[in-house]
Amino acid sequence: MLKTCGYQVTAIDPVAELLKAAVQAQSAHDYAIAPASELPFENESFDLVVAYNVLMDVVDVPGALREIRRVLRKEGTLFISIVHPLADLELLAETAPNAPSEPRATYFDRRRFETKIESRGLTMHFAGWAQPLEAYVGGLESAGFAITSLREPTAGLTEGRDHMSRWSRFPLFLWLKARALAA
Ligand SMILES: C[S@@+](CC[C@H](N)C(=O)[O-])C[C@H]1O[C@@H](n2cnc3c(N)ncnc32)[C@H](O)[C@@H]1O
Repeated sequence: MLKTCGYQVTAIDPVAELLKAAVQAQSAHDYAIAPASELPFENESFDLVVAYNVLMDVVDVPGALREIRRVLRKEGTLFISIVHPLADLELLAETAPNAPSEPRATYFDRRRFETKIESRGLTMHFAGWAQPLEAYVGGLESAGFAITSLREPTAGLTEGRDHMSRWSRFPLFLWLKARALAA
């Protein structure tokens, strides 16, 4: 979509197989295997960074946001999509099959989770971090970003998407737009 909009797109991911898939899909112009904490780019190289469903899988979110700020031009834009921190709340329920072993974990803690989800004959292993909204916003603040928009998209319920019905009642994703402030 960014290419269609006329952007010169650079894609990064630390996993070689996933980057290979991006190359096969011709999703960018340039590609780099790198973690968000060590972006192989000069300071102020980009007008726009998109972190699409990545930050909840990153160990050091504040470090990743500092690095994103470094490679963004002043007044540059950062778009973030994350799993909504409220969507992780069910992991805290003691009755949930994959509840964290620490029974006193709260919404306010940063919590590791691993779970398997079966759907339509496929089993997928999900692992990542659940943390409160304040942790993401604190990381943005300390890296020098100002949030300019926030959206809570709902699932479109068209035919064949009944499995998504709960996400028309609860938020699944959170979208943020932030501007890089002058240092
Ligand atoms: C849920 S997937 C999303 C992939 C893709 N953005 C999408 O929406 O289809 C999370 C991605 O984050 C990547 N990732 C994990 N840790 C990372 C890190 N430290 N820095 C950058 N990317 C990371 C994973 O390799 C994986 O491709």
